[in-house]
Amino acid sequence: MTGEELDSIIEEKGQDAPALVGILQEIQKREYCLPFKTLGMVSEKLDVPMSRLYGLATFYKSFTLKPVGRHTVDVCMGTTCYVCGGQLLMDRLLRDLHIPEGGTTSDRKFTVQPVRCLGCCSIAPVIRVDSDVFGHVTQNQIPKILERYE
Ligand code: FES
Repeated sequence: MTGEELDSIIEEKGQDAPALVGILQEIQKREYCLPFKTLGMVSEKLDVPMSRLYGLATFYKSFTLKPVGRHTVDVCMGTTCYVCGGQLLMDRLLRDLHIPEGGTTSDRKFTVQPVRCLGCCSIAPVIRVDSDVFGHVTQNQIPKILERYE
């Protein structure tokens, strides 16, 4: 992100303390993470200590310091899903997308991560892409599910 882009975000969101989270949200939306370099520019421009920015970035679950894909694929590894084949779904996703667990595809389209029980064990095994939940998923359905997302 350039300094000019950051200036326009700051101009839009404001410079007071409550605006800080909004500024970080906008950076996250554009960069798919909060890059250290950009946080450094925010720190300098708003005279906010890096420790405070880091605290916010690690406190809110919606922020990440590591680049993530445009779509997050959560593979439920809760007990029921695991027993019903959750690991097989994870293996298929990682194999098809050529990434390690927790990794992001090189085109930044998908990030695949294991999660705990999603609260819908009756349709195990379950995966969630962004906010869409898919139940009774089989390995062979994985390509079709991924195709839905640009
Ligand atoms: S264990 Fe997967 S939804 Fe509960």
